[in-house]
Amino acid sequence: MRIRALLPCAGKLAFSPALRYERGMTTSHFYAEALQTGRPILAVAPMIDWTDRHCRYFHRQISRNALLYTEMVVADAIIHGPRERLLSFDQAEHPVALQLGGSDPDKLTKAVEIAAPYGYDEINLNVGCPSDRVQSGTFGACLMLTPDVVAGCIRAMKAVSSVPVTVKCRIGVDEQEPEQALPDLLDRVLDAGADAIWIHARKAWLKGLSPKENREIPPLDYDIVYRTKQARPDVFIGINGGIQTLDQAAEHLRHVDGVMIGRAAYQNAGVLADVDHRFFGASDTEADWDGLRDRMMIYAARHIDNGGRLQQVARHMVGLFTGLPGARRYRQILSTEAVKAGAGPEVIAAAFAAVDFSGVAAEAVGA
Ligand SMILES: Cc1cc2nc3c(=O)[nH]c(=O)nc-3n(C[C@H](O)[C@H](O)[C@H](O)COP(=O)(O)O)c2cc1C
Repeated sequence: MRIRALLPCAGKLAFSPALRYERGMTTSHFYAEALQTGRPILAVAPMIDWTDRHCRYFHRQISRNALLYTEMVVADAIIHGPRERLLSFDQAEHPVALQLGGSDPDKLTKAVEIAAPYGYDEINLNVGCPSDRVQSGTFGACLMLTPDVVAGCIRAMKAVSSVPVTVKCRIGVDEQEPEQALPDLLDRVLDAGADAIWIHARKAWLKGLSPKENREIPPLDYDIVYRTKQARPDVFIGINGGIQTLDQAAEHLRHVDGVMIGRAAYQNAGVLADVDHRFFGASDTEADWDGLRDRMMIYAARHIDNGGRLQQVARHMVGLFTGLPGARRYRQILSTEAVKAGAGPEVIAAAFAAVDFSGVAAEAVGA
């Protein structure tokens, strides 16, 4: 496919400064560095069906410095399933963390070993996702009830990982008292060598709520996360849950080391546009939307050439310009045209052309 002919104009292809993370950094390195320097980590949360490799590539074009998480991948799937499809990613996605689901140290060890050659920058264990398989106790938030099991998993994963091994958890589940459950879990996983803790600042109620309700109904308790950080100044503590804007992120960063944004980053990816300038010292104050369009067209063309469909890339881009004049048309074009047989990257150009960027600063998109 002649990609150049598809480009409506040549945008600026250079984007912001070098990554703060470097491939090959040894265990704990970038989290330790964040603690030492006070430089925060801004992450896009792991989200099943959402943060696949196409979504991450798209987010990476908007922020060079945000830490990107995969969807949760169950250890068993890596051991027995289609590894290449589950684990491969574009080198441009770095820094990228692989989130694993599981509770069997042997299987998690195997999964970490299998994933190692792919070059993820971090391995994260899911101790927060309330899934349909909660009853079987195999992974996710139910592990809050068995901190020793989690510690055993972390110890085993650390033994074979050359990159940081981290935990994403809730503040508790069901009848647990967060003031006890959270420190109890942290004591054990930190003793087992966990390099950082990301805390979704609400309980999961394992019985009676759907996973979606479990992201909305249990009340947020940011204070307990702040207190956790105060009690453990030497530990990297990141906060997650209900954070919609970079102003809110900045406020949280007065209390903790990192901020993880989930739904807001996906549904309105423009929220990432000012991350590099605001938190990582990038000099560009205006997002390069032409460059973004061009890079996504090139990426989509490559994906299609490799047998993929435009829709697999475009579906993640639909929420980008929420709130801007023309955003509705942009959404419409991507949602209706990208699904058609034979749809190509020109659909992306048409969608961007529908948006009126005049007088819009980067931070206004997604505000
Ligand atoms: C569609 C969807 C899928 C999710 N999948 C995962 C997952 O695979 N692993 C995980 O730890 N959390 C998962 N979560 C939870 C998010 O990582 C995050 O903790 C939650 O959405 C709260 O953050 P937010 O309010 O910024 O969205 C998912 C959330 C959504 C909306």
